[in-house]
Amino acid sequence: MVMTAVFGVILVAGLAWVLNANLRVAPVEVNYAVPVAPQLAATGSGQTLYRIDASQSSVSYTIDETLAGATRTATGTTHGVAGDIVVDDADPAASHLGEVVVNVEQLTSDQELRDNRIRNDFLQSSRYPEARFSPTSTDGLPSQITDGTPYDVTITGDLTVRDVTAPVTLDATVTRNADALDIDATTTVKLSTYGAGPISIIGLVTTGDDVQLAFDLVAPEADQVNIAEVASGETELATGPTDGPSFSQTVQPVLERNCASCHQTGAIGSQIWTLETAGDAAHVADGLGIVTQAGYMPPWPASDLGVELQHPMRLADEEIDAVVAWASAGGPLDVDPATEIVPDEPVVPEPRNDLELKLPVAYQASPEKPNDYRCFVLDPKITDPVAVTGYVFDPDVDEIVHHALIYRVTGERRQDALDRDAMDPGDGWECFGDIDVGRSLDPSGRGGGIGLVAGWAPGQQPAVYQEGTAMHLGEGDLFVVQMHYNTRRDGVPPDQSSIKLQLAEDSPDNYDEIVVNTYLAPAEIPCGPDEEGPLCDRDAALEELGRLYGPKGPVIANGLHMVCGTSPDELGVLDDENIARSSCDHNVYTEGTITSVLGHMHEIGQSFRMTLNPGTPEERILLDIPEWDFNWQLNYAPVEQIEIHKGDTIRVECSWDRDLRNRNLPAAYCTWAEGTEDEMCFSTMSVAKHTSNQGPPQTVSQNPPPG
Ligand code: HEC
Repeated sequence: MVMTAVFGVILVAGLAWVLNANLRVAPVEVNYAVPVAPQLAATGSGQTLYRIDASQSSVSYTIDETLAGATRTATGTTHGVAGDIVVDDADPAASHLGEVVVNVEQLTSDQELRDNRIRNDFLQSSRYPEARFSPTSTDGLPSQITDGTPYDVTITGDLTVRDVTAPVTLDATVTRNADALDIDATTTVKLSTYGAGPISIIGLVTTGDDVQLAFDLVAPEADQVNIAEVASGETELATGPTDGPSFSQTVQPVLERNCASCHQTGAIGSQIWTLETAGDAAHVADGLGIVTQAGYMPPWPASDLGVELQHPMRLADEEIDAVVAWASAGGPLDVDPATEIVPDEPVVPEPRNDLELKLPVAYQASPEKPNDYRCFVLDPKITDPVAVTGYVFDPDVDEIVHHALIYRVTGERRQDALDRDAMDPGDGWECFGDIDVGRSLDPSGRGGGIGLVAGWAPGQQPAVYQEGTAMHLGEGDLFVVQMHYNTRRDGVPPDQSSIKLQLAEDSPDNYDEIVVNTYLAPAEIPCGPDEEGPLCDRDAALEELGRLYGPKGPVIANGLHMVCGTSPDELGVLDDENIARSSCDHNVYTEGTITSVLGHMHEIGQSFRMTLNPGTPEERILLDIPEWDFNWQLNYAPVEQIEIHKGDTIRVECSWDRDLRNRNLPAAYCTWAEGTEDEMCFSTMSVAKHTSNQGPPQTVSQNPPPG
C-alpha cells in the first residue's frame, strides 16, 4: 500500500521556522553608557596617546531602504564609541590605532521603530551591544607628521558584529590639530556577512545588502579628555500642536480596540513596540501611519477573495484614514502623554487553563542539528472521557521553537508510544517526518488510533473551539508532541514548552468531535537562473535530504506526485519572475462542518489558496493569502456553516518566490522536506463531525480551532 505509506508520512510532515517575532520579552531598555575599549600606552619618547571623546565622535550607518513601497536612504548614528591611538612623531609609521569599540545598541535614526527592529532582530544589539574593530595594519602613514595636514591612510582589520568577525578595510583621513586628532573613516560592508540581512519584512520594508559605515572620531590627548559616561540620551517627545486631528477622539479608540492587547508590556508585539501610554503612540506616530496604511498591522494576511471569516483583524478605511491623518500632522497629543492606553475586552476570550501539560523535561536542543525534531509523550491521565473546548500552546524558548504538532494517541495505542519513547536514549525521541509510533497514521484523523489534533506555528492564536464542538479525549489517551527546534541561531537554552487545555464539565457526547485533516501539494522550486551548484540537481538535493533526515527525507517530495498526479518536470519550473507554482486536488477525508482552515509554507512562500470544489458552480475559496507571511500563520474560521461531504474536492495551491531564498544558503533545488530551508505546501482543515447528541451546531462564534 504505497499510497497509505506516503500519506502516513505526509500527514505528519513538519512545519517550519520563525523570525524572531513572537518573543515574550520586556521592551528594549537601552543602556547609554559609553563603551570601554582596551587602553594603549605611549611608550617611546616621541609618542603621544590620544583617546576618542564620545561626546565629539560618532559612528553611523547608511543603507537603502524601501519602506511601504517608497525607497529612500536610512541613517542611524551612535555616539557610544571608544578607543585609543598612539601617534609616534619620531617614527610616524609606528603610529597605531587600538581596538575601537562601538555601542550599536545606541544607534538612533529618525524612526524609533527602525531602531527597535535593529536592536531586536537584525543586529540583535540588545544581546550583542558592542561591535569591535581590531586594526591589523595601517598603510599610507607619512614619514613626517605636520599639524593641520590631512593624511589619507588605509586601515585594515577585523570587524566583529554580533558573533561574526570578518575582515574590513577603512579608507581614512587623519588630521592632527592643535587640540585633537580627527579621524574620518568609511567602509562598505554587507549585511549578509554578519547574518543581519538583507532585510525583508514582507509587506513593510526591504533593504539592500550593502551598508556604508562612517566613523567620525575626535581624539584629544588622553590626559586632557574627560571621557563622558553617557553617550547620548533618548529623544525627547516633541510636544506637537494641539490643532491637528484629535488623538483621544480618533486614534486612541482604534489603538485600544485593535492594537493594545498585542502591544502591552509582555504581549507578543511588545518587543518591537510597547504601547502603554499615549506618549508611546506619539513617539512612533509616523510608523503607525505606515504600518496601518500598508496593511502590515493588525496582522491579517487573508484577502477578501475567500469566504467571509470570523473576527477579521483588519481596520476599516476610516480608521486607517484617522491614524494616517494624525501621523501626518506629526502625532499631536490632546491628552497628557502619560494617559494610559487600555485594551478593550477581547472579542474572543482566552481559554481557561484547566489542565496544563508540560514537556516532561527542559529539552536541550542539539546545536549540531540546525533542525532538531524531537517527540515527547504528554500524559493527560484521563480516566473518564472528556471534551477539550479550547487550548493554548505556549512555546517556552520562542526563538527556537519553530513548530509543535500535537497528536492524540488513543488508549489502545498508548503502549506503542511508551515503547517508542523507551527505545531512544535521552529525553523523548528523534522524529523527522512523523512521530514514528506504529505505522498506521491516517489523514482522516482518528483512524488507527493516532491523529493530529492541534498545533502551533508562529502567529498562532489561543483557540476556543466553536460552541458545541470539542476535541475528544478517552480513557488512557496520550498526546505525543513533535517539536521542531531550529537551532541555527546562537545560544540554545533548554526548552520546556507546554499546552494548556480548557475542559468541558459535561459529557463529550454533547460535543461534535473536531478532527484535523491535512491537505498537501508538492513543492518543486529549482535554482534560479543566476544560481549554480551541485545541489541544483534535484536528485542530488534529494540525496542530501536523505543524509540529513534519514531514509524518510526524500519520501514526501516524491510521494506527493503520486497522490496529486503531478511530476517534478511539470512543476519544477520558474516563470519570468522566478516564481514556482504547485497545486493538488484531494477528495474530502472527513465529512462535517468546516470549523477552520490554515495554510503553511516556509521562508520563500509567496501565496496560498484553498478552494472547495474548484471549477464547479459550488466553488468556494476557503482561504486566499495573496502575500504569504511566515510570522502570521493564523487559523481562519468561516462565518458560514460550510458542510463538506465525501466526493467534494479540496484544491490546495501554493507559489514560492525563489528570490526570497536566503543568499547565505548553498544554492539547492528546493523540495518538500522538514528543514526550515526546505519548503512545504501544507494545510489543515478542522472539521466538526456530527457526532454529538445535540444535533447540528447552532451558533457561530468563538475562535477557530488550531491546525
Ligand atoms: C495579534 C497581535 C497584534 C495585533 C492585533 C497588532 N500587532 Fe503590531 N505587532 C505584533 C507583532 C508580533 C509585531 C512584531 C512583528 C514582526 O516582528 O514582524 C508587531 C509589530 C508592530 C509594529 C512594528 C513594525 C516594525 O517592524 O517596525 C508596529 C508599529 C505595530 N505592530 C503597530 C500595530 C498597530 C498600530 C496595531 C493596531 C492597528 C497593531 N500593531 C496590532 C502583533 C500585533
